Amino acid sequence: MAKLGLNVDHIATVRQARGGVEPDPVTAAAIGEMAGAEGITIHLREDRRHIQDRDLEILRRTVKSKLNLEMAATQEMVRIALNIKPEQVTLVPEKRQELTTEGGLDVIVNLKMITDTVKRLKDGGIVVSLFVDPNQEQIKAAKKTDTDYIEIHTGAYAEAVTWTEQQHELEHIDTAIKLARKVGLGVNAGHGLNYVNIKAIAALGGIEEYNIGHSIIARAMLVGLDRAVRDMVELLKYA
Ligand code: PXP
Repeated sequence: MAKLGLNVDHIATVRQARGGVEPDPVTAAAIGEMAGAEGITIHLREDRRHIQDRDLEILRRTVKSKLNLEMAATQEMVRIALNIKPEQVTLVPEKRQELTTEGGLDVIVNLKMITDTVKRLKDGGIVVSLFVDPNQEQIKAAKKTDTDYIEIHTGAYAEAVTWTEQQHELEHIDTAIKLARKVGLGVNAGHGLNYVNIKAIAALGGIEEYNIGHSIIARAMLVGLDRAVRDMVELLKYA
């Protein structure tokens, strides 16, 4: 059975909106694990827009399943990863202006830099995954870096509007899964997956772990709102 890696970045996004202490991604991670998530994923961005260094440090001590740190392949991030030692690092491209990670790594162009980064992380005992588009040439290049896993960027599939476009993107993903497994890479997937589009991709098989954040946190806000309002209305009865 495929595993869910719960991405708690957007719990931190809400916290950072006020710069306070709640909601805490550490609490969210614990609830997520109790509900069945088999991994906790966080993206420590260069601009620290959501997850903070403090979150990474505490989660390292509290996550019981598996901590997956998404990060850019920079000197600063490699130093942090080697110090904190998450079970897994997923290398992602990062642009300051983007709203969210926009595309996969260009492993072909950055082969040497990525290969060196993979080696440093693996020498530190960390499992490494490379976030790549479902593109055969990128996957062949990923294999050359000695990475353990790839994470297939499912954004193009998630954004496909028509059924035909969706099928087209699913075919790319299916081909990517088969190639990656054939060359001995483990396969994860993520980005833009939700309660509707997960079904067709899960039916393909061959994916070990799905990293999902936005849709789960968005749903949590809505399914939890009824209870949260009732709790406050109850307190106001005594006002
Ligand atoms: N995987 C990677 C590499 C990502 O960068 C992200 C977004 O931070 C996700 C998965 C989760 O995407 P979403 O929040 O759209 O579920």
